[in-house]
Order: sequence, then C-alpha cells, then structure tokens
Amino acid sequence: MAHWEILCFALCSYLSVAWAATLGVVHTEGGFVEGESKKLGLFGNYIDIFRGIPFAAPPKTLEDPRPHPGWDGTLEAKKFKNRCMQMTLAQTDVRGSEDCLYLNIWIPQGKRQVSTNLPVMVWIYGGAFLVGGSQGANFLNNYLYDGEEIAVRGNVIVVTVNYRLGPLGFLSTGDANLPGNYGLKDQHMAIAWVKRNIKAFGGDPENITIFGESAGSASVSLQTLTPKNKGLFKRAISQSGVGLCSWAIQKNPLAWAKKIGQNVGCPTDNTTALADCLKISDPKAVTLAYHLQLINLPAPVVLTLALSPVIDGDFLPDMPENLFANAADIDYIAGVNDMDGHIFAGIDLPAINRPLVKITADEVYNLVKGLTVDRGERGASATYNLYTQPWGDKPDQELMKKTVVDLITDYIFLVPTQWALNLHLQNARNAKTYSYLFSQPSRMPVYPRWVGADHADDLQYVFGKPFATPLGYLPKHRTVSSAMIAYWTNFARTGDPNKGYSEVPVTWPPYTTEGSYYLDINNKLKTNSVKQNLRSRYVNFWNTVYQSLPQVANFSSTEELLWS
Ligand SMILES: *[C@@H]1O[C@H](CO)[C@@H](O)[C@H](O)[C@H]1NC(C)=O
Ligand SMILES: *[C@@H]1O[C@H](CO)[C@@H](O)[C@H](O)[C@H]1NC(C)=O
Repeated sequence: MAHWEILCFALCSYLSVAWAATLGVVHTEGGFVEGESKKLGLFGNYIDIFRGIPFAAPPKTLEDPRPHPGWDGTLEAKKFKNRCMQMTLAQTDVRGSEDCLYLNIWIPQGKRQVSTNLPVMVWIYGGAFLVGGSQGANFLNNYLYDGEEIAVRGNVIVVTVNYRLGPLGFLSTGDANLPGNYGLKDQHMAIAWVKRNIKAFGGDPENITIFGESAGSASVSLQTLTPKNKGLFKRAISQSGVGLCSWAIQKNPLAWAKKIGQNVGCPTDNTTALADCLKISDPKAVTLAYHLQLINLPAPVVLTLALSPVIDGDFLPDMPENLFANAADIDYIAGVNDMDGHIFAGIDLPAINRPLVKITADEVYNLVKGLTVDRGERGASATYNLYTQPWGDKPDQELMKKTVVDLITDYIFLVPTQWALNLHLQNARNAKTYSYLFSQPSRMPVYPRWVGADHADDLQYVFGKPFATPLGYLPKHRTVSSAMIAYWTNFARTGDPNKGYSEVPVTWPPYTTEGSYYLDINNKLKTNSVKQNLRSRYVNFWNTVYQSLPQVANFSSTEELLWS
C-alpha cells in the first residue's frame, strides 16, 4: 500500500467514525449493551442494530418468565441468540434452546445526529405456536424479520422478540398446576421491557405499536385483550389471525397435557404429579411428545393445532369475545390475505395444487363436515349449500378448488377477523379501526395460476424484501412493499395509516359503523382499492345463521379421533 493510501485509510476511517451517528454503548435496566453501527450506502445514513438483548431471565421449564437479574460490564449485543426450543420440520429432532428470551432492535440514525422520540414497532412472529424465531428464516444472509427496511424507510424503531413455543410455551393442565400461556407471558415481558427501556435507544415509550402475523397475529390480538398490558402500547396490527380464531384458544388443554405426559412417561391421573413430572422431564422429549400429523389426516389440519393459549382466569380471564373492553384505547388494524387458507387446503386436499387431479363434490362435503362437527349434519349441509351455490350443474375444477380455498380461508382467518373488527369498533372509545385484504398473487411457481395471496405472503412485503434482495423481485413488488411499509409505519407514528412520515398511494378510510370499508392491497393501489363489506354474505352466515344451529358436539370428539 502506498504511503498516502495508508494515510487516507487511517484518516478516512477516523472521519467516518467521527461522522457516524451511533448510540454507542446504551444503558438498560440490566446493564450496558453494545450493538453494531452500520453505514447505509456510501454517503448514507446509519443504523444501530442490537441483537440478543435479554428481556427476562433464562426461563425454568413450564414456569412463568421472571425478570433478568442484570449483568456487570458491557453485554455484546451483536449476534442473534438461539430460537426457543422447537421441533424441526421433520419433527424428529429439536432446534433452539430453553434459554431464549431475547430481543433485537433496529434504530435508524441520521448522518450526524442520533434519533430521539421515534415510534416503536414490536414484531411477534408466527408459526402455529409451534415454530419460529425473532429473526426468522435466513435466505442468503438476509433474515426474514430483519427490521432494517421498515426502520429506515418508515423512520421507526423495530424490535423483534422471542417467545416460548409448543409444549414448553403452551402446555397446560387447565388448573393452577400448569396454568399455561407461558409464550404469551414471554411476549408481555418483552413488551413491558420495551416500554421501560426504549427511551435509552431513542424511542418514544408513548408511541409503541405491536404487530404480528398468523399465530403472532392472534398473539397481538390477545395482548390487546388481556388486562395485563394496560398503558403499555397504543396500537396493534393483526396480519392473518385474531384471538377469536378457533385455533387461537385451546378449550381442552388437559387432554393434550395428559397425552404429552403419557408420551414422556409421566403419571397422568393427578395433575399435580403430572405437572411436577413434566417440569423435571427432558425439555427435548416434552417438545417432541407432540406430533403434528400432516398426511392422511382424520380431520381438517386446523383442528389438530393443540398447543395454543388457554383461558387461565388470569392472563386471559375470559373468552376473547368478552375482553374487547380492554382494547378500547388501542388503535387497531386487522386484515387477511385473500387466499390465506390455500396452504391449509393443500394439506387437507392435496389435489388442490395438482392441475391433472380432480376433486369431487363428496371430498368437498367431507371437508365441510370435518369443519362443522359441532353443528352436525345440519351445519354441514347449510355450509355446503351456501358455498356450492355458484357451482351450477357442471362446475369446472378451478371453480371447485377455489371454493375449497375460500371456505378454509373464511373459516380459519377471514370470518373471525371480521368479527374482531366489529367487536373492536363497538368497544373503542377514541381508538380507530382499520380493515384490509392483501391480494398480491402468490409467487410460488409450482402453484396453479389462480392462487392469490397465500398465508404468510404478506411478510416479504412488510419486511421490505423486494428492496433488500431486489434481484428476486420485480418493480411492481417494490410498489406493494413501499405502500405497506408506508401505511404500517404511518399508523405506528400517528394512529392513522394515511398520515405520517410517508406518502401513501390512496387514502385508507377507517372501518366504521357507517361503512365497513377495507383496503384491497396489491400492486395496483388506486381509488377503487377502497371497498366495502368484505365477503359479508359468508361472514353473516358463519356469525349468525351457523351460530343459531343447535350444537350437537364439541371439538373434543375431534381430539379423540386424532388420538385413536
Ligand atoms: C407519537 O408521536 C407523534 C409524532 O411524533 C406525536 O405527535 C405524538 O404526540 C406521540 N405520542 C402519541 C401518544 O401518539
Ligand atoms: C397428587 O399428587 C400430589 C403430589 O405428587 C400428592 O401430594 C397428592 O396427594 C395427590 N392427590 C391425589 C388426589 O391423589
């Protein structure tokens, strides 16, 4: 290296350090933390990134989370920590660790000055309450839930948090021995940590929004409904899931606790003995004692999700539909993807995705029957008749397959989301309510062309992947991504998705009693993307006609079927 190069190298890096706007070491309630300061582009701004800050002590198996005792010196917060222990995709082994209660923070900085008073967005990941992690899956060193694009484009702080999963997060005996909801309590601990500490990172503790997808979305909804979060956050966004979804609450947790106890060799006739035994069992064995069946299912897959939040009389004092008064001051966005049920329909009826394989009316009827066991034959035929009305005498396969996807989308996501929007609106004081439908078609090349926005398709756009990995996307995908980030971060800043730091392509009116407006989100956002009464015929059917039919069974008959 020539002499002047060495000189420049030393000087230039000195200057760039001098110019870098960075928080450096931050003092939190547990002690000092040091993250990474990253420069964005050659003459661009900076971002501070903290990875793996503990928000609670390492948890004890099947016990409530406890505060972290703190540390001496400065904690290096530069690497993501382990995910919470969970089964692998093959369900034959586990990954992650019990010591997993950590969070990550992205803070956008100016060129010379550090930010202050930024709105804060706390992300809760999905994964059926069974899998997932605060950084998400890694593709080419780009993590799915990397907060950088949202933080920089929306000028907000992004926080992503871990919570316990599967049996270790949600197993419950339905009594005080194992009250359950450990994963929800972890999320609450993380939110409370953000409220107490985010000011030191340049955040505004009065401007916190929580957002999540799928099980994370149902979690967001439940965090707004529990009385435990009063005053901790102002706003919430549910992407495909609410506390009113059938799969969000396990009504018979003891049956599953006994089955899991039996699988690891614990006594099951006494819940005290069962709880004591499970707490000292190998956490890996407890995690693997639950197995999600994905082929030759005896019932629709949605009914087989067993390890979910429970009504414990404390964190959730009552059924979610009776708790909306607790969300009266929370601004709320809730929405679904137009084919959220597609991936589940493909598990129940694999022929959905095989153009050369036909489905029959009998198969559709059996699927309906599986979803409507609580209302017996009357429920099944009323539901089947409504959904097959557009079929005529000789329905083509595409119409039949789409009908199945609509049915599953309605049942698992869309109908409970509309119910939640209505209850939120009825209970709100000054808080606002917004509804959306995400309809950007799936990019999966193996799917038939008619497939719309599948479950989880919204994630890549909200997290700005079309910008982070531009070669994988087209300009129209950046259009969707930029609009979603604008609406989401404006909402986090002001409670109104149209007002804030970013321009939006079209004004999204609130959901009100005068007009059940929703925004249809895709790459062609324009005035006529504002629509009304989302699938109201089907929503009315499920929420009134269907509910009024006599109940003939409860879903524990499905559980017996599964365990037989
Ligand atoms: C949130 O931030 C906005 C914009 O910076 C500010 O006007 C508002 O007062 C803050 N607090 C709340 C509770 O909205
Ligand atoms: C249940 O087990 C606990 C602890 O193993 C024991 O103290 C208690 O007496 C048992 N209760 C019954 C009803 O058998």
